[in-house]
Amino acid sequence: QTTALVAGVIGKDGYRHYMEKELHEHPLVIGQTLQRMIDPATRKVVLPDMPCDIGAIRRCVITACGSAFYAGMVGRYWLEEIARLPVDIDVASELRYRDPPLEAGSLGLLISQSGETADTLAALRSLRNAGLPVLSILNAEHSTMARESDAVLGTVAGPEISVASTKAFTAQLTVLACLTIGVARAGGVLGDAQEEELVSALLDLPSRAAEIFSFGDDIRAMASVVAEARDVLYLGRGSAYPVAMEGALKLKEISYIHAEAYAAGEMKHGPISLIDKTVPIVATIPSGALFEKTLSNLQEAKARGGRLLAFTDERSAHRLNAIAERTIALPHVHPFVTPIIQTIAVQILAYETALLKGTDVDQPRNLAKSVTVE
Ligand code: G6P
Repeated sequence: QTTALVAGVIGKDGYRHYMEKELHEHPLVIGQTLQRMIDPATRKVVLPDMPCDIGAIRRCVITACGSAFYAGMVGRYWLEEIARLPVDIDVASELRYRDPPLEAGSLGLLISQSGETADTLAALRSLRNAGLPVLSILNAEHSTMARESDAVLGTVAGPEISVASTKAFTAQLTVLACLTIGVARAGGVLGDAQEEELVSALLDLPSRAAEIFSFGDDIRAMASVVAEARDVLYLGRGSAYPVAMEGALKLKEISYIHAEAYAAGEMKHGPISLIDKTVPIVATIPSGALFEKTLSNLQEAKARGGRLLAFTDERSAHRLNAIAERTIALPHVHPFVTPIIQTIAVQILAYETALLKGTDVDQPRNLAKSVTVE
């Protein structure tokens, strides 16, 4: 209902769908969120109102639903690798009933666009009942979760009307990236030079994200392959794995094409048996430490007749050209922020595919923007 009310006030600004408009807002939303979290004078991340001494946290328990859960998975890679913080993560519908032993010194971290999702709210309450301080990353800053959390980090994404989340997701990633830097610094594992390098990568993002819209024709050509398929496999490794999951979720939500994401290294333990020319493989494969490993998985898929559609970057595109039917060379950015660039591209692919399928992009069947019942 709230969505319908807001939709009555907020126009599409000439775009065909709210989703298209919201995809184009990615650079703005990332920039606005960074503005709130980085002091322009010192170029340092500023974390207001933390619910505990974040330098002393020993473990982080992340929970969320839907796309927000995949944002949390990217956050896990960052917090573990950069802040050296052990992370547990589970979907809220499971965590709320799992009753895991929670050590003192743990922080509960919730992620939600609406701040009203029933399972995430129940998980919040169970974490707080267990005595954990809870920090929530929320787009709706006046929501039930905002009131019940010990502290809130806001995503400055503005109202999101399209049922399928887009800009709220990249804003969540932006906050998680800043949180990682703040926790790493407070924990004494991030020096000034490294912080400056990561902050520069983040500040570079809005303009690099805007460049993705020049790939419209290439992504549409990729969508024409995907739209013909009944099943699509998404593959990625490391922080590109949850991006693959987000891409598969978005595709099934709005185009009704069955899509599954796998960690690229797991392909040989099952999905490899599905591969033939009717099952396109969308690969999220940015340059970086895991590039060669993912490439060898894709070569295995190619050898079995798979049709590869690859999202990589300018630096590595030439390595994919020989095996991929379509390669998109996205802007090359610091490896820290590649999940954000790759996410925008896979979301556009889902949108373009849904257009070809002629589905109701903004209001896909059976889905709700905010699921306030269990
Ligand atoms: C619904 C929406 C998804 C969203 C999920 C979690 O399923 O359709 O787009 O990711 O809820 O919502 P939240 O508001 O908690 O982020």
